Amino acid sequence: HVEGDLDLEQTLFTEDQILSRLREMAAEIERDYDGKDLLLVGVLKGAVMVMADLARSLDRHVEMDWMAISSYGSGTKSSGVVRILKDLDTDLAGRHVLVVEDIIDTGLTLSWLIANLRSRGPASVEIATLLRKPEALQMDVDVRYVGFDIPNAFVVGYGLDYAERYRNLRCIGTLSPHVYS
Ligand code: PRP
Ligand code: MN
Ligand code: MG
Repeated sequence: HVEGDLDLEQTLFTEDQILSRLREMAAEIERDYDGKDLLLVGVLKGAVMVMADLARSLDRHVEMDWMAISSYGSGTKSSGVVRILKDLDTDLAGRHVLVVEDIIDTGLTLSWLIANLRSRGPASVEIATLLRKPEALQMDVDVRYVGFDIPNAFVVGYGLDYAERYRNLRCIGTLSPHVYS
């Protein structure tokens, strides 16, 4: 246990539950991409843990690359206006790309990102996310691999932050209200 666990109201997923779901997703991905080169694209910073554990669950060669993007606009995080802070090092032409995310909340970040990646001439672009919130279902984001659908609560841990904290928790949980005040 680390200090941050004390700030959790409820644990939603233990480390074991997360890892076992990622192994199931990895098995699906292995089947779907059999005989094809695969490039995993992680979205910094939240996807770091998912990328590390999903990639290590894959019993095949993969490449990994990273993008850092930032939403901005009317001051709110999910404006849908996105700016690239760090682009890929990899040329996507003809590549099979699987975007790896920790969570899809409104889906705005990812719908922008997918359109951006598709414009680079890849052979395919799909999405794997550990978590998805119901709101994302309203958006035009076609997600191929989903770990868990979760209710609309603020969750942290396993890469997910609140004000840059809690990313290093091994589990995923809801944050206690006392932390906000
Ligand atoms: C979080 C999360 C997703 C995105 C989902 O990232 O990791 O990338 O928000 O939100 P959306 O579906 O509403 O667009 P954030 O912008 O907080 O950056 P971080 O990964 O560095 O924490
Ligand atoms: Mn993120
Ligand atoms: Mg964040």
